[in-house]
Amino acid sequence: MILGRRAVLGSLFACTFVFAADGTRTKESVLAQAAQPTIQADIPSLCATLAADFPVGAAIWRGDIAGPHSELLKKHFNSITAENDMKWEYVEPAEGNFTFGAADALVAFAKANHMLVRGHNLAWHRQNPKWLFEDATGNELQPTPENKALLQRRLQNHIRAVVSHFGDDIYAWDVVNEVIDPDQPDGFRRSPWFLITGTDYIDTAFRTAREVAPHAKLYINDYDTTDPRKRAFLLALVKGLQSRGVPIDGVGHQMHINLNRPSTSEIAETIRMFSALGVDNQITELDVSVYDHADQRYDAAPEALLVKQGYRYEELFDTFRQLKGKITAVTFWGLADDHTWLTEFPVSRQDWPLLFDAQLQAKLAYWGIVDPQRLPQKN
Ligand code: GLA
Repeated sequence: MILGRRAVLGSLFACTFVFAADGTRTKESVLAQAAQPTIQADIPSLCATLAADFPVGAAIWRGDIAGPHSELLKKHFNSITAENDMKWEYVEPAEGNFTFGAADALVAFAKANHMLVRGHNLAWHRQNPKWLFEDATGNELQPTPENKALLQRRLQNHIRAVVSHFGDDIYAWDVVNEVIDPDQPDGFRRSPWFLITGTDYIDTAFRTAREVAPHAKLYINDYDTTDPRKRAFLLALVKGLQSRGVPIDGVGHQMHINLNRPSTSEIAETIRMFSALGVDNQITELDVSVYDHADQRYDAAPEALLVKQGYRYEELFDTFRQLKGKITAVTFWGLADDHTWLTEFPVSRQDWPLLFDAQLQAKLAYWGIVDPQRLPQKN
């Protein structure tokens, strides 16, 4: 495709047309291009502002490495995570058949722009291909010693292939994701992983990752890590891993939170507790929903909540900065409000959880971090 810029007759704005290789241009491409926003060139870079504290990342998809989204990404972030493209269902859709194209494109973009890459993730109970928990005849794996050995082998093969494919291009891996369920008496999520291997898959995942990526930092990643019950299980698991000599470097705190909860003191307390075990902490999936409950819904972002969000981001980053050394990276789960998983979770509705709006313009959330003086006075 060739990009061409020309004025639209009768319109007040310039519009970028997309031509196919044969010189024609499609209606879709014209519409898509006409709506392209322009990023603000004259505001401070987020990652430059926080350079002395930690790298700042965004979870991205292929739409973020072209056009204005890529400009926004390059200006404000110095780390990326693949939102989906490194998950099992995408990189090993059929056993032994690895497809890295989409992930490679993100990594190449990051390398070309001197960004760090977090790998996400190696073992999870979601976004897996069906075959993973099935036998050769398509039946669900039952918990037997043979199936345990089979699943452990599949896990090792997957991790060896994926982690060695990216090598030193990935500095940190979320090795296991969401293994804790505080509603279970022992705290372990009843995933097929657990039902078939017990907790052995966790040890195997870390040991295998370390074997193939001796330089990468290895994390256990989860949500609601500030919840005292869940946190106690996670602390016990980390201690157990350490006592067995399993190579774990840190805890990834997803931090899908809202305007009110958890408090920054609960966050700080949590980070200190893990730090006291000698492991690192990273904030891996930060977003701040404007909602408290699944039954709320706004069709437009209420201004008062956007102001509150500005103050919320200010206090969060003050806390993260105070924990400097104990938190080595902060990653947002998305780049701007035009692409966030929260429009589908927990129900389908609009949400505005990130620093940039759907037109890629800085919100008060951004100013809360970069220059809180710009926030409106609190009443
Ligand atoms: C979890 C996972 C992420 C992502 C988010 C929501 O937090 O770790 O990979 O799927 O849910 O999109």
